[in-house]
Amino acid sequence: MKNGGRFSEGQVSGNRFGVPASFPEPPPALPAFPPKEAIRGFFESIAFRYDSINSLLSFRWDEAWRKKAARQILEGGGKRGAILDLGVGTGKFLERFLGEKSWERAVGVDFAREMLKRARARLGLRCQLIQADIHDLPFEAESFDLVISSFTLRSVKDLPHFFGEVRRVLTPGGKAAFLCLTRPSGLPRILYAPYLKCYLPLVGGMLSREPKAYRFLSESIQTFFSPPEIQRELESSGFKGVSIFPFSFGLATLILAEK
Ligand SMILES: C[S@@+](CC[C@H](N)C(=O)[O-])C[C@H]1O[C@@H](n2cnc3c(N)ncnc32)[C@H](O)[C@@H]1O
Repeated sequence: MKNGGRFSEGQVSGNRFGVPASFPEPPPALPAFPPKEAIRGFFESIAFRYDSINSLLSFRWDEAWRKKAARQILEGGGKRGAILDLGVGTGKFLERFLGEKSWERAVGVDFAREMLKRARARLGLRCQLIQADIHDLPFEAESFDLVISSFTLRSVKDLPHFFGEVRRVLTPGGKAAFLCLTRPSGLPRILYAPYLKCYLPLVGGMLSREPKAYRFLSESIQTFFSPPEIQRELESSGFKGVSIFPFSFGLATLILAEK
């Protein structure tokens, strides 16, 4: 599979995962996907200032998006026995759900130990935290009623495999919810370009002292799947009832799907 299963917006998917029947023009170059250990190393090293860098880079909108997404996900109702957060980070998204009700079981997974330490400090003993790769989930089939993940999809190398894993661990009728950074459309897209191409890599690189990582972040937002492409991939992985909720002109998008 080309580019770890990735293709860029505008390409026409000619088979199950985006190898077009023909290209009138060569496809635009996509950023090389960094090795897993490089991504993990990056999150380990910025964990202690991850929340403050995020707030600065997003002008605190990340908080508003998590809050809005959690409300939307919980409004849909459904069984709320067991919840799983993939790429739990410092626990900010999962915290929103733990505050809403008591779950039979709550689990956060992340491969970065330093992020998990911060999640533990934030969430206390209200949930189980597991250090693992989200591509291969260490859970039995049908273990969770709700799987959530915020701002992590771009770190997934093989989306079809990942969605397959998410579907496997969900109970029948269970829900998956992905909150992602996306590209706005129309006029906001034009205004967003200088932010994405200059501010984000420059300021992110300076604050984190990981310029490469923030260049990758900027490039991956520019080339990552659009929400309709994610929807298509979820549907080919067997999910149904996929719905898309753009926030702030599409700067972030919540995607909900049902097993
Ligand atoms: C951008 S952060 C998002 C954290 C959190 N969900 C939030 O809303 O702030 C992505 C998180 O996913 C984790 N992550 C990325 N790739 C992963 C993988 N393959 N397996 C496990 N965790 C991963 C990173 O360590 C990081 O904590």
